[in-house]
Amino acid sequence: MTPIKECLINRNTKINPIWLMRQAGRYLPEFRDIRKENPDFIKLCLNPDLSEEITLQPIKRFDFDAAIIFSDILMVPYGMGQTVEFKKNLGPNLGSLEITELQKITENSFKKNLAPIYKLLSNLKDSKDLKDKDIIGFVGAPWTLLVYMLNKVSPKKGLPSDLLKDKIFIDELLNLLDKFIKIHIENQINAGATIIQIFDSWAGLIKKDFDRFLYNPTLSLVNHVKKLGVPVICFPRDISDYVQFSKIVKPSMVNIDYNIDAKSLVETLDIPIQGGLDPKFLLTEKETLKKETLKYLEIFKDHPYVFNLGHGILPETKVEMVYELIQIVRGYK
Ligand code: CP3
Repeated sequence: MTPIKECLINRNTKINPIWLMRQAGRYLPEFRDIRKENPDFIKLCLNPDLSEEITLQPIKRFDFDAAIIFSDILMVPYGMGQTVEFKKNLGPNLGSLEITELQKITENSFKKNLAPIYKLLSNLKDSKDLKDKDIIGFVGAPWTLLVYMLNKVSPKKGLPSDLLKDKIFIDELLNLLDKFIKIHIENQINAGATIIQIFDSWAGLIKKDFDRFLYNPTLSLVNHVKKLGVPVICFPRDISDYVQFSKIVKPSMVNIDYNIDAKSLVETLDIPIQGGLDPKFLLTEKETLKKETLKYLEIFKDHPYVFNLGHGILPETKVEMVYELIQIVRGYK
């Protein structure tokens, strides 16, 4: 059994497997080298040879316990026919959205648009670098994808108040997202993904209608993954009530963000937990990193716990600090 499944399924509290969100990314010089030669991010995600190389970069360097495929949550809107571009220093930029156009997308054309991702997974399945490691496939949650598809850019500065006003349109979009995200999950599992993580990066922006935007859509995906026999990790970033979320949605494991009081959570939440450490601590000194990392390891010492961060690793992180973090986690007894 892989270390993460040992923790997730057997609830072994003696090991703390480790991987990091965004472990395949810009803090790695070897990623930046490839990126320099490949200015079109979407094309890079659809190049199975290069995306395999990028997926394996952090594994070769750090021997993490899981690989997460090099891809993006916005590949689902792309597969549904919305244009997606990444502009330097601006983040994602999505094109216009016509519901009548989206309704014409068939399962076959969606699958064809994303076929290189499934090719990447089947290549990884045979990789000798991933023996005894999980291969994490992932999707964005319907809410977070809805936000990007409607807002077209990152909602860092908040959402326009009229974004959700067309109820019929929003519900139709949520329906389509449920359908295509499930197809994407199923194809990833059939191609070799051994765990699925659901990223709801903007869940913290939901202020009302939690059933409609958070609980129902996520539960629908979680049940779908479970039916396919694979564990599912949820990351509803910045929500206020992880206990309520876990009770309703029942993921195999929940990834917490860094605003959560881990100590009080561990007393009330029975399911395996992942993550928590603020990625900014990787930008400080080794002493601070050690102190903050040990806090999480101590809090979760009798709880099934997979070490990870409370959000993605920052591009300005020094590789040396990642080695340090791994040493602290693996050296903890
Ligand atoms: O974790 C990994 O290493 C696997 C790959 C991965 C990427 N994006 C590659 C990527 C994963 C799991 C994602 C998820 C993702 N993408 C999320 C959810 C997690 C989170 O961070 O909240 C979101 C919201 C996105 C959308 C997205 N993609 C944004 C907002 C951006 C631009 C901002 C940024 O962080 O760069 C991206 C681009 C992106 N996705 C990059 C990478 C490596 C950087 C691309 C570059 O080189 O410019």
